[in-house]
Formats: sequence, C-alpha cells, structure tokens
Amino acid sequence: MRKREVWRVIFAAWTFAMQIAMDEAGSNGLIYKGQPTSSPSSASPRFVDSIRMQQTFIAWPARHSVRLKCKASGSSPLRFQWLKDGDPSIHRRLQPRLKTNMWYLKLKDLVPLDSGKYTCIVSNTYGSINHTYTLRVVEKSRTKPILKCGFPRNTSAELGQNASMTCIVLISGTLPDFRWLRWNTIPSTFPDSLDFENGSYTLVNPRQYQTVHVGGKYGVKVNIWNVQPNDLGLYTCYVSNHLGSDYMSAFLTEEKDRRKESEVTTEKPEEKDFANHENTGSPPLRGTNATEEIPPAKQAVTRSREAKIPLSVFIGVLSTWAVITTIALLWCHLYHKKIRAAKTGVEF
Ligand SMILES: *[C@@H]1O[C@H](CO)[C@@H](O)[C@H](O)[C@H]1NC(C)=O
Ligand SMILES: *[C@@H]1O[C@H](CO)[C@@H](O)[C@H](O)[C@H]1NC(C)=O
Ligand SMILES: *[C@@H]1O[C@H](CO)[C@@H](O)[C@H](O)[C@H]1NC(C)=O
Ligand SMILES: *[C@@H]1O[C@H](CO)[C@@H](O)[C@H](O)[C@H]1NC(C)=O
Ligand SMILES: *[C@@H]1O[C@H](CO)[C@@H](O)[C@H](O)[C@H]1NC(C)=O
Repeated sequence: MRKREVWRVIFAAWTFAMQIAMDEAGSNGLIYKGQPTSSPSSASPRFVDSIRMQQTFIAWPARHSVRLKCKASGSSPLRFQWLKDGDPSIHRRLQPRLKTNMWYLKLKDLVPLDSGKYTCIVSNTYGSINHTYTLRVVEKSRTKPILKCGFPRNTSAELGQNASMTCIVLISGTLPDFRWLRWNTIPSTFPDSLDFENGSYTLVNPRQYQTVHVGGKYGVKVNIWNVQPNDLGLYTCYVSNHLGSDYMSAFLTEEKDRRKESEVTTEKPEEKDFANHENTGSPPLRGTNATEEIPPAKQAVTRSREAKIPLSVFIGVLSTWAVITTIALLWCHLYHKKIRAAKTGVEF
C-alpha cells in the first residue's frame, strides 16, 4: 500500500518536471535559456555562436519579426544588455515591454524606424564583450535587391574540371534580373566599387545560369564547365530591378592541389540560417510574377530549431528523472530503516 503511494508521488513529480521541460522547450525552442550550464568557474564571457554572428548586416522585411542573438558562455551570472544606436532605452511603440536583458532581442512587427545598430553587451565578474548587428528594415517592393554577403565564394578548380559559383538574393521587392560577368582585367577599384560603364568585362552566357533555392532564398548559380585558363579571374554577380542594383564578386582560381579534387565542383552554399533570424507571419517578399515567388525563409529556420528541441528535451527529462529517482530511492531507503528501527525500538 505504502509502496504504491511512493510510486504515485514519483510519477506525479516526473510528470510535473516533464511538463516544465516541455513548456520551456516550446516557448524558447531550447531548454536552456542561452548559457550552457557547464562553464569554467572563473571564465569571462565568450560568444558561443561566432560563426553565425559573423553576419552583422541584416536586411529584413517590414511587418515581420526578427530575433537578434548573442548566445554566450562564461561564469554565471551572465548579464545581457541590448542597446540601440548606443542607447540602452529602446523604445518601440508597438512593443512597450521589450525585454532588453535577455541573450536575444526579439523585435516584433518591424517598421523602418527600427533600422539601426543593435549592440549586445554580455558581462560577468570577469569581463565584458559586445557585438553589434546593423539592422535595416525594408519595405516590401520598395527596395532594390540586396545580395547575401559571403556569396559568391572564392572558388578554385582544376583545369578541365567543372566549377560553379552561387549568389543569393536576400531581399528584393520585385523579381530581379540576374547577370554574371567576368572581368577581363581586375578593376583597380576592386573590391570597393566596380565601374560597370567603363570596365572591361564579358557577360557570361545565360545558358550557364541555373536558379537555385538555398535556405528559402532565391539565387543564381553560374556553371563553368571544363574550366580553361581564360575562364579564371574575377566574377561578379549583378542583380537589378527598377529601383536599383547590387552586386557581389569572387575569384575563380586554378586548383593546383590534387588532393582537394573532391572540392572542385562543390561550391554549394550551405543552409546557413543567416544571422539567426526568425521569421514570423506571412511569407515575405514575393516577386511581381506570382508564379515565381521568393519563398519564405521560415521553413529553413524552423527546421533548424526543431532539430535542436528533441535532444535538449531528452537531456532535460533524463536528468530530472535521474534526480527524482535518486531522491525517491533514498527516501524509500530511509523510510524502511525508520520502520525497522521503530519495530526493534532502536533510536536513530
Ligand atoms: C565593445 O567592446 C569594445 C572592445 O572590446 C570596446 O572598446 C567598446 O567600448 C565596447 N562597447 C560597449 C558599448 O561596451
Ligand atoms: C576572395 O579573395 C579575395 C582576394 O584573395 C579577398 O579579398 C576576398 O575577401 C575573398 N572573398 C571571400 C568571400 O572570401
Ligand atoms: C561537367 O559537366 C558536364 C555537364 O553537366 C558533364 O557532362 C561532365 O561530365 C562534367 N565534367 C566533370 C569532370 O565533372
Ligand atoms: C568613362 O571613361 C570616359 C573616357 O575615358 C569618361 O569620359 C567617362 O566619364 C567615364 N565614365 C565613368 C562612369 O567613369
Ligand atoms: C511569369 O512567369 C512565367 C513563367 O516563368 C512567364 O511565362 C510569364 O511571362 C511571367 N510573367 C511576367 C509578368 O513576367
């Protein structure tokens, strides 16, 4: 009879712990709220996602939500503080209770006034670090195209092999026009600004273009088959719509190291969730041609977050279960001892 009661208590406690773990996971996408629990006892703060944080310029459509993240580790307590343009009091008419002391800053329902520099400061007893994101909120269909930084990538290929480069459009109000061109001579102004009027370049044959979808974004890949010496050089991806243009460049160089042969044709952009945004609401930017939508970034982002939940939930549940079981066994043990002690009349 007693035993059954004990098990009932254990089960209730376990259910409760599991509920908490689930709620946490549900509301945050993660169980832990930013700081990994295991950190050296006297460590200054350190950003734990520095690769993602390399992307400091963020162009994001109006009326959507964005989440800027500064995940960090270090001795607790870690303190987080967000500033906008250096000012710790961030006023948003639509979000009066904006939390500026979390490891992330979630701005809902963006308006162009939200554009600016957002700095997170992470500090503890041992030090302080900071990171700044530049956010540009753009109105749908009132913007020139914006290309993703870091693409196309510098690529190398052995002569006779195939190579490809990809550029990705982050934001475009209307469907942009894509061109790839190869510079006959590298402009003296490179990489700052390129003179497309007086420069000497060759337009790459559009038959070598291929549209791609990468992480919910739209891009154009250029294929260079059977690379020859005169294919090498600086390539520029140039996109434009009626409001303006943007371009990004990269080099195609000759690959001399045979061991890297497998990398020759694999300039595939990964599904990097650019600067950790979260996109909520209706699909963003749509081309004027309804048959060729630029798909929302949502799926890719959600997918990467979903992938994290099961592991954290699993670990959370497992550890709470272990703790509860240990306590229950200990309690059981003591309880029985007490009964035995009472029976034999021995004092404890
Ligand atoms: C950010 O860090 C840099 C270098 O560590 C420091 O010079 C600067 O004052 C910091 N900015 C803020 C706002 O704390
Ligand atoms: C490509 O190489 C050039 C020159 O070597 C360099 O300036 C540029 O930053 C590189 N681009 C990327 C995206 O790595
Ligand atoms: C290069 O691409 C062409 C066309 O897709 C293909 O036929 C050829 O086998 C490729 N060559 C190499 C070396 O992969
Ligand atoms: C192009 O070059 C011509 C003559 O060399 C010069 O008059 C013209 O201003 C240049 N255009 C631009 C956009 O630099
Ligand atoms: C929209 O795209 C389709 C197929 O890509 C094409 O046939 C049509 O002409 C396009 N319409 C406009 C207005 O660009």
